[in-house]
Amino acid sequence: MKDDREIVMSGIRPTGFLHLGNYFGAIRNYVKMQDDYNCFFMVADWHSLTTHPDTKQLKSNVHRVLAENIACGLNPDKVALYCQSHVHETAELYLYLNMLAYKGELEKTVTFKDKVRQNPENVNAGLLTYPVLQAADIILHRAKFVPVGKDQEQHLEMARNFVNRFNHRYGEVFPEPQAFNYNQALIKVPSLDNTGKMSKSENQLATLYLADNDATIRKKVMKAVTDSGPVEMNSAKPDYIENIFDLMKLVSSAEVINRFEDEFNNCTIRYGDMKKQLAEDMVNFISPIRNQVEAILQDEKYLLQVMETGAAKAIESAKATMLQVRKAMGLQYY
Ligand code: TRP
Repeated sequence: MKDDREIVMSGIRPTGFLHLGNYFGAIRNYVKMQDDYNCFFMVADWHSLTTHPDTKQLKSNVHRVLAENIACGLNPDKVALYCQSHVHETAELYLYLNMLAYKGELEKTVTFKDKVRQNPENVNAGLLTYPVLQAADIILHRAKFVPVGKDQEQHLEMARNFVNRFNHRYGEVFPEPQAFNYNQALIKVPSLDNTGKMSKSENQLATLYLADNDATIRKKVMKAVTDSGPVEMNSAKPDYIENIFDLMKLVSSAEVINRFEDEFNNCTIRYGDMKKQLAEDMVNFISPIRNQVEAILQDEKYLLQVMETGAAKAIESAKATMLQVRKAMGLQYY
C-alpha cells in the first residue's frame, strides 16, 4: 500500500522495565506520531549484543519492551513494530556503511568512549561500529525523522555523515535523518531523591517503573524528600519541592495542583497529604498500564503475531531500499 506520509524511525533497546521518564520522554511521542507519520519502531536486539553477550534474558526482555510500548498506546496496526534481528537487510546495509565509516571517527564517539571506560575487557568491534548499525536501522527505511533524546544527537550526526558520503559516492539514495521532538522544552521527570532524572540504571528506589505494584509506588512516593513547609507567604520553592510539583503535573488534575499551589503560597501545605495525593494519582496512572502489560505478556501468540506483522512491514520497506542501494553501488551483475 502506498503511504505518502513522511517516514519516522526509532529504536528501543530491550533492556527491560521502562520507567516514567521513558514514558513521558519517548513513548508518548511515539504514540502521538503514529497518526501523523509512517512509523517504524524497532526493538534493537542486535545492539544489545554489543554490551550484553549473554542472551538468557533477551527473549523475555524483548517481549516485555513490546508489551510495555503497546500498553502505553503504541498501536501495532498503525506502525511497524518489529525486531531488528528479523530484518536481515539491516546487516547488509550495515556492511556497506562500514566501508564508509572511519575508525578515527568511531573511536571519538562519546558513547563508545563511555562504554570502553565502563567495560574495558569487552571492547569488541560491534561496540565500535554501534553508530553504523544505528545508521543502517534508520536509513534502511529512508527515514527523515528520528524521535530520540539528546544523548543520541551524535549518533544522528554520524548517520548524516554516512548518508552524505554514500550519496556523494554512489548517487542520491538516502535523505538526511534528523532528530525529532514535538515539545521543544523537554518534559522534566525528576527522580524522587532529588539527584536528577528518573533513570534505568541509577537510583532504582527513586525511579517509578511501569511494572511497580501499587504498594511499591506508594512507598517510593512517600519517601520523597520534603521539609517542614514554607514559613513565608509566596516564597520560592526549594528544588526538591518543585520536583514533587513537577511529578504532580504529569499525573494529577489541574484542580489538585492548584489546591497545593495555593496551600504552598499561604503556608498551610502539608507535604504528607501532598505525597499521599501524588501516590494515589501515580497508582491510578501506572496500574492500568501495568495490568495491561501483564495481560499482553500472558498472550504469547499475540506477541508473535505482532512481531511477524511488524517484520513483514519492515522487510517490505527494507527490500525496496536495498534494491536501490545495490543498483546505485553497481552490485547488480545480471
Ligand atoms: N542507540 C539507541 C539508544 O541507545 C537505540 C537505537 C538503536 C536507535 N537503533 C536506533 C535509536 C535507530 C534511533 C534510531 O537508545
